[in-house]
Amino acid sequence: VVQLLMASDYDRLGALKAFDDTKAGVKGLVDAGVTTIPSIFHHPLPIEHTDHDHHFTIPVIDLAAATGGTTTTPSKRTELVAAVKAAAETVGFFQVVNHGVPKAVMSEILAAVRGFHEEPAEAKAPYYSRDLGRPVRYWSNFDLFQSPAAQWRDTLYMETTPELPPPEEIPPACRLIALEYARLMQQLGRTLLELLSEALGLRSSHLEEDAACLERLAGHYYPSCPEPHLTLGTTRHSDPCFLTVLLQDAVGGLQVLSSAVWVDVPAMEGALVVNVGDFLQIVSNDRFKSVEHRVVAQSTGPRVSVVCFFRRQDAPTSTRVLRPIVADGEARFRSTTMAELIRHNRAKGLDGSSALQHLRL
Ligand code: OGA
Ligand code: NI
Repeated sequence: VVQLLMASDYDRLGALKAFDDTKAGVKGLVDAGVTTIPSIFHHPLPIEHTDHDHHFTIPVIDLAAATGGTTTTPSKRTELVAAVKAAAETVGFFQVVNHGVPKAVMSEILAAVRGFHEEPAEAKAPYYSRDLGRPVRYWSNFDLFQSPAAQWRDTLYMETTPELPPPEEIPPACRLIALEYARLMQQLGRTLLELLSEALGLRSSHLEEDAACLERLAGHYYPSCPEPHLTLGTTRHSDPCFLTVLLQDAVGGLQVLSSAVWVDVPAMEGALVVNVGDFLQIVSNDRFKSVEHRVVAQSTGPRVSVVCFFRRQDAPTSTRVLRPIVADGEARFRSTTMAELIRHNRAKGLDGSSALQHLRL
């Protein structure tokens, strides 16, 4: 049995390498016309079903009072902070409207990311890399060699710190719009972190230094999947950052875990999805929830999403300590450094377990 297991492990590694070597990602498989998915994509456990009847709504929050879309009064600000606080403390997810990002920019960035992924394999291959030193890179599954099952998606990453990548390193398909989108996200991130700081009863700039920085941007591409019941677009996980701002197209497929059931985050035109990340759950001492989420694989598609992660600009190497802010009561998490938590996440990959669990006191 051991020999058999070892043989199959060996085959799996070989299959992963062969897939990685194509530099064409999942899109390459779909273009080749696969009608069954390779076994590297099979999830070890049955895919948990979605509860479409669940009476549950992701709050929609109007940011006009914070983005200058309306005359701001102290009471409107107080109301807004209360709405953000309620969402962050319960669902951990909310959608925002009147966020200051023009609709045209949102559709352009989605189209540009889609455009990149739909270029011929030869055009994309030079960007395909697992070298973390490259600020712009394309790959399929950041955790291909770590996680128990590969996921049905490809990603174009752009690290946006300490400054935006040199324009010539960004694929021409998204060059101009990616830089503009990153700048708008930087502004929105600051606005949201001010609101979240106030929601924690802190001065509005409190989270800024560590958190109000757009550290990276991911342009995910989820091709249509011939056997969606066997795999996932993104395995269950929570985000290793303070805050995530996500733009999804009309296809949908993002789900959050609420009271042990999977519920859809509905695709809402013009809205952006905001969620609390692990770092914020730690510093808020468990008041704000970094909720687990996933993306289902679907027979419709492709689906495109653009995800912005906010955390200190040098987070992957930072010895900055993440420690619960505790006014009274006890710390619920042991302190850690940003680098340590990110390393832990990378080493385990998306394996369905929460990165916060090992820090709980
Ligand atoms: C992520 C993520 C969801 C999506 O990149 O962390 O959860 O809709 N993405 O692509
Ligand atoms: Ni995520």
